[in-house]
Amino acid sequence: MCGIFGCILKEGDAAPIVHDALKRLEYRGYDSVGEATIHDNKLFIKKDQGKIEEVHALHNLDNLPGRIAIGHTRWATHGAPSMRNAHPHIDCNGQIAVVHNGIIENFSELKKDLEEHGHLFQSKTDSEVVPHLIEEKLKGGLTFLEALRETAKHLEGAFSLAVISVMEPNKIFCIRKESPLIVGIAKNATYCASDIPAIRPLTDKAVTIENGELVVLEDEGYKIWRIADWSRISRNPKIIPWSPEMAEKQGYPHFMLKEIHEQPPSLRNTLRLQEKYLDLMTAFLDRAKDVFLVACGTSYNACLAASYMFSKLALLATHPVIASEFIEQQGRAINIDSTILAVSQSGETADTLSAVEYARLRAATVLGLTNVIGSTLTRISRVYICQQSGPEIGVAATKTFTAQLSVLAQLAFRLAEKRGKVSHEEIEQLEEKLIQIPDIAEIVIQNQKKKIEQIAKKYYSKQCFFFLGRGISSATALEGRLKLLEIAYVPAIAFPAGESKHGPLSLVEKGFPVVFVCPKDENHKTSVGNIMELKARGASIIAIIEEGDEEIKNIADDYIEIVKGVPEVLSPIVYVIPLQFFAYYTVVHRGLDPDRPRNLAKSVTVK
Ligand code: G6P
Repeated sequence: MCGIFGCILKEGDAAPIVHDALKRLEYRGYDSVGEATIHDNKLFIKKDQGKIEEVHALHNLDNLPGRIAIGHTRWATHGAPSMRNAHPHIDCNGQIAVVHNGIIENFSELKKDLEEHGHLFQSKTDSEVVPHLIEEKLKGGLTFLEALRETAKHLEGAFSLAVISVMEPNKIFCIRKESPLIVGIAKNATYCASDIPAIRPLTDKAVTIENGELVVLEDEGYKIWRIADWSRISRNPKIIPWSPEMAEKQGYPHFMLKEIHEQPPSLRNTLRLQEKYLDLMTAFLDRAKDVFLVACGTSYNACLAASYMFSKLALLATHPVIASEFIEQQGRAINIDSTILAVSQSGETADTLSAVEYARLRAATVLGLTNVIGSTLTRISRVYICQQSGPEIGVAATKTFTAQLSVLAQLAFRLAEKRGKVSHEEIEQLEEKLIQIPDIAEIVIQNQKKKIEQIAKKYYSKQCFFFLGRGISSATALEGRLKLLEIAYVPAIAFPAGESKHGPLSLVEKGFPVVFVCPKDENHKTSVGNIMELKARGASIIAIIEEGDEEIKNIADDYIEIVKGVPEVLSPIVYVIPLQFFAYYTVVHRGLDPDRPRNLAKSVTVK
């Protein structure tokens, strides 16, 4: 996830406006920043790695001439944060500048082809193919607009682009496929941006650009075309109903709620990872004698779920280990044959990094899964994968958890296939299902949100909760419990439901709330038995079930239904969503701030 912005002023310098707008987009990424302007038929560019104000302190982002400008704030997906990889990117002749948000899936093929035609690339990004491709199309005698249209047709993936060129010095060209793009209209200026927060203080009039559209900004306003059939679209601006403050959270009262809603697109991004890294990591996992899944907090819960995926699909036993215990628990068993898959959203968690450093000293292979390219974990891993969720601001991890699960599932599928442990057909079916998961997540979010809010209202003042599940759902339950505990300050206990009789059952009395994650999988029958035992002792059951599970509907006090047909190994990705909402609404009813729980930090860099 990155932020793009563009601006055409009737008069005055655009650079300071771009700089300010980028600050409002920083929540979309903040590892690098850059701006390009046009003045006197020349392009002027400033860009570097670092947060906006750090780069500004070094380069003065306001000091670029010209009334037309584009800008970018980056969250790396391809190529570590560096000056070269920062946007804007230019063509060989320095006549075209491009900023890009999204992922260009076929960039390797395009880059190879362009290099064969003599293009020289400066960066390791996917984005740089765009200015070179436009340049290449122009060589064939097309107008700038035609070249852009042809370029758009060749790009696969998700992207929004803003392009300026000395060949068309009074315009900004934008293209949208999936990644968001809006145009803002003011009296003396026209803007384009990834998101409303960037333009909201400048205007309250915006036009949403739809998938597959190309828009040209000019002094007189904007023109939109549908790329596929080159038809002109007429669309009037609408008034933005949000104040600048609301716009930052896209109208949601809290970042956590916004990020829960961002899960469908964030899951879609995980389906666009580069195959070669997934394959490489799979090869390392296949060769390993012992595999340790090492992480803290939510990332540990993802590892726990992954251990079920690996054993059920690839018949590979793995050891999920809480990073702070890794050295004590497993240290002496680590050697050259061990493989450590470290999972860390931030890539900076001190306990995870110490475990990894220790394993490296003992010659083990280190693999990393993180959301932050350029983080310490990416620098010390033999192979790393970036989950591409974009920045997460709420302290409680939500969209990054489900994205981790999606990546880990893809690894498990590949490993299963490589080891020949599961039929090709079965893997294909699972892959098909994984592709549907973002849509299923969307349905759960839209259909169940209200009901969960009501359930949270009923239970928010309870003193203690159980979160239970069996099999892979015990990992889902553990994550649901962590959400509630960390943001609502409600003591909560999670354990595999089979453990109830070995102690926890003694806590249960009339009205004791138990959240039971109970998909219709192999464990269903036993789970029903566990629910009956709890009910017999007076517990109130809130069950997360598959749609139409009449058996549990009849015995649960409250239930949330999940769309049918989610395979067991993928169930945590969807079944955790009601639990995220449950924690969120409990916090709201308790009058607390879910984004900033007391005593906690987003990234824990001390041991
Ligand atoms: C902190 C955060 C959690 C996170 C954990 C691990 O406790 O509040 O949300 O799960 O650190 O962070 P990591 O960045 O390593 O995934």
